[in-house]
This record gives sequence, C-alpha cells and structure tokens, in this order.
Amino acid sequence: MATAIAIDGPAGAGKSTIARFAAKTLGFIYVDTGALYRAIGLSAQRRGYAGDDKASIIPMLNEIKVELAFNQAHEQIVLLDGEDVSGLIRTPEISMMASAVSAIPEVRAFLLDLQRDMAHRNNVIMDGRDIGTVVLPDAQIKIFLSASPECRARRRYDELIEKGMDVKYEDILSDVIARDYADSHRDIAPLKPADDAIMVDTSGEDLETSVNKLVNIMRSRL
Ligand code: DC
Repeated sequence: MATAIAIDGPAGAGKSTIARFAAKTLGFIYVDTGALYRAIGLSAQRRGYAGDDKASIIPMLNEIKVELAFNQAHEQIVLLDGEDVSGLIRTPEISMMASAVSAIPEVRAFLLDLQRDMAHRNNVIMDGRDIGTVVLPDAQIKIFLSASPECRARRRYDELIEKGMDVKYEDILSDVIARDYADSHRDIAPLKPADDAIMVDTSGEDLETSVNKLVNIMRSRL
C-alpha cells in the first residue's frame, strides 16, 4: 500500500518548500493541491467570471480538463485543457480567485478523485488545506504547518519580488489575512488541523531549519 504524508496549513507557512524538499529526501512524489484550485481560478478568470459566480463556474467544470503531470525533474506540472499553466497560476490575482472557487462544494468534489487517485498510485507528500481532514483522512502522517501572518506575508513578498513582480508588502499582508479568513471560515472543508495532526509553527525560523525539523519528524514516524 502506498504511504501518504499530509501537510496542511495556511498560505505561506512554508508547506510547498518543505514538502518539495522532504519528498526528494524520502523518494516520495510531491503533490501541490493548491495548483488544482488555481487552475480552476485561472479558467474562471479567462472566461471573465467572478470567483464566487457559482452559476457560471459549476457548469464550466463539465467543459474543462484539469490534470497533474510530472516533468523530468519530477516537478509537478498542472495542465488546463492540455496547456501547461504552472507559471500562469502564481500571481496574487489567481491566489484570490483560487481561494474563492475553492469555497464552491462542486469544485472541491470535482478535484477529490484526482487527488485520491494520485495518493493511491504513489507514495505522496500532499500539501493543501484539507488533506488530513477530507482528502486523505487515513494518511500515515499528518502535519499542520503554521506561522504568523506577518511572517508568511514577508516570505510571499520576497518570493514575488525575486520573480520580478511589482508588489507591495502591505497588499500581500492584507491578501494573506483575507485568504486565511476565507479559507478557514468557509462551510465546506475549512482549513483546520486534523485531530491527529502534528502541529508545527515555523514563525521566525529560516526554511532550512523548518525543513530539517519536518524531515526528522517524518523519518521518525515512517
Ligand atoms: O496553497 P495555495 O496557496 O496554492 O492554494 C490556493 C487556494 O486554494 C487557497 O487559498 C485555498 C485553496 N485550497 C484549498 O481550498 N484546498 C486545498 N487542498 C488547497 C488549496
């Protein structure tokens, strides 16, 4: 049977960096489920729909295909109708669209089988918001990763600046706070730790320290 490690937590807690590195170290596949919601957010944006326009977005799901693939470096690629949109989904605007579409139950149901299927066929480290609670409730290891909003906004800001984007720290911080609130207050699969999750706070730590801490936790429990 395949082994699954679930990493949940708010945006910018370091989930993807930690999960990517840990997956490489342990020989697991890293699955970033946020990319799936982002692809749906992008599809809605391209059609000119608001992120909460259920009446348009639900029928759209019958017309689009969202797939995950892996390149030669074993990095995840997300395909929207066969187009590699992995780069296009990493903007602040698509972050907000993804958060909005992710509150629509039909969107979550649409992505559920794809996520479970990945975990059944591979040893995975899967990151998201509801992996330990809904997608993979039987995951062998569940980690809930958190950090203060200011610390997460600073990391996201540095990341976007490094990519050459023109963004303001204050805007990123208010996006982080708004997205935390939306993600943890929605009716369906809200962001919350599973009862059996290991709680880890990465505030004030550099990512290397957090990565080492998490890999040690995983190794000791596998
Ligand atoms: O991890 P991320 O920032 O790329 O996720 C984008 C949005 O998708 C996030 O605001 C909430 C949503 N999401 C979700 O609801 N469930 C997941 N498993 C992953 C992401």
